[in-house]
Amino acid sequence: MTVYQATASAPVNIACIKYWGKRDTKLILPTNSSLSVTLDQDHLRSTTTSRADPSFKHDRLWLNGKEEEIKEGGRLSTCIAELRRLRREVEKEEGTPKISEYPVHIASYNNFPTAAGLASSASGFAALVASLAALYELPATPSELSLIARQGSGSACRSLFGGFVAWEMGSKDDGSDSFAVEVAPRSHWPNLHALICVVSDDKKGTSSTSGMQRTVETSTLLQHRIKVVVPERMRAISEAIKARDFPTFARLTMADSNSFHAVALDTEPPIFYMNDVSRAIIALIVEYNRASVAAGGSIKAAYTFDAGPNAVIYAPEENIKEIVQIIISYFPQAQPFNDVFGLFGGEQPKGAVPSGFNEAVSKKFEPGAVKGFIHTRVGDGPRVLGAEEALLNAEGLPK
Ligand code: DP6
Repeated sequence: MTVYQATASAPVNIACIKYWGKRDTKLILPTNSSLSVTLDQDHLRSTTTSRADPSFKHDRLWLNGKEEEIKEGGRLSTCIAELRRLRREVEKEEGTPKISEYPVHIASYNNFPTAAGLASSASGFAALVASLAALYELPATPSELSLIARQGSGSACRSLFGGFVAWEMGSKDDGSDSFAVEVAPRSHWPNLHALICVVSDDKKGTSSTSGMQRTVETSTLLQHRIKVVVPERMRAISEAIKARDFPTFARLTMADSNSFHAVALDTEPPIFYMNDVSRAIIALIVEYNRASVAAGGSIKAAYTFDAGPNAVIYAPEENIKEIVQIIISYFPQAQPFNDVFGLFGGEQPKGAVPSGFNEAVSKKFEPGAVKGFIHTRVGDGPRVLGAEEALLNAEGLPK
C-alpha cells in the first residue's frame, strides 16, 4: 500500500524592516510591507512530516513530541484547509489519488530550544506549508505558498524563500496580493552573517499578536511609521541589498528596529521588549561603528531586536570575530562558544575591544546576562527531505 507522506524543513527569518500591525486580523494582512533575511537551516530550522492516511480518525499535530490541539477556525486549521483546497484542484486530473479526503498526521520539530526565546512560528508554519505542499504535490510557487503561510503567522510568509525577502503588504481585501517575494537570493550576498545574542529573560513578555494589535489601536506614532517611514525604507533597503551596500543596509536595519520599539513604547499601556542587556548591546554596536568611522572606516555591524530582548547582529563574516570579542568583554560567558565557523581555531574566545573603542560605553555584566550566541548566516529556502528524515513512525505517530 502506498504511504502518502512528505518531510520538509524551513528556515527562521529575522526582519530588517519590521512587520508590526494588522489591517485584517483573520486573514493576517499587515499595515506595512516588511523585509527580512532568511537564516541558514544548517543551524536553525523547523522540520515537519505530514502523512495522509484513510485509517486516521482526524487531523492531529505534534510539536516537539507534544500533541497540540488543532482548533476549528484557528490558524493551523486554516492553513491545512487551504492546502487541501489546492490539492482538490490537482485531483481534478483523472487518476490522481483523492488523498485530500484523508485525515493528516503532522509532526514538527524545532532544532533550537524554545527557551532560547527565538520565535519559532515563522519557521514552524513555513515547514508545515512546505511539507503539506510536498505531500499534496502542489504545483504552487513559493509566493503562492506564502499566501497560506501568512495565515498561520504573518512573518512565516517570508520563510518560504531563502536570501533576502520582502512581504508586499498588498491592498486587496481578500489578501490575494499580500505575499512574499525574493529580493535577492542567498548567493547574491553569501558573506552576510548573523550573530544571535540570547539574552536571559525571566518575565513573560507580550506576544507579537496581541502587542501589535494594541499598537494599531492606540499608537499615533504607528500612523507616521506605516505611511511615511516604512515605504521609503523598503525602497532604500532593497537597493542597498542589490548593491551589497552594507553600511546603508545596516543604518536602515538599526533605524527600523528603533522605530518598531518606539511604536511599542507609544502603545497604551506601553510595551517594553528590550531590557538593560539589549540596550547595552546597542551601545556596544554603536560604539564599534563610531570607532570604525572615526578611524576612516565604515559601519561594520547592525543590531535588530524583535518582540523580546534577544539581539540579532548582522555583519559581514570578517567582522564577526571582533564582535564576539567585544560582547564577551562586557558579557562573560558561562557556556562555551559554539564556534561553527571556526573563528577561534579551536580556542575559546577572549574579550577584547578594537583600538579606539571607548570602553566606558557600558558597564560589565555578570556571567549569564547574555546566555550564549548562535552564529549563522544568510540561508536558503524550504527543503524537501528524504524519508530517512521523517518524524512519523510506521503507525503515523511521532518517533
Ligand atoms: C517583531 O509574525 O509573530 O518579529 O502574524 O500575529 O503571528 P502574527 O505575528 P508574528 O510577528 C512578528 C513581529 C516581529 C517583526 C517581524 O518579524 O517582521
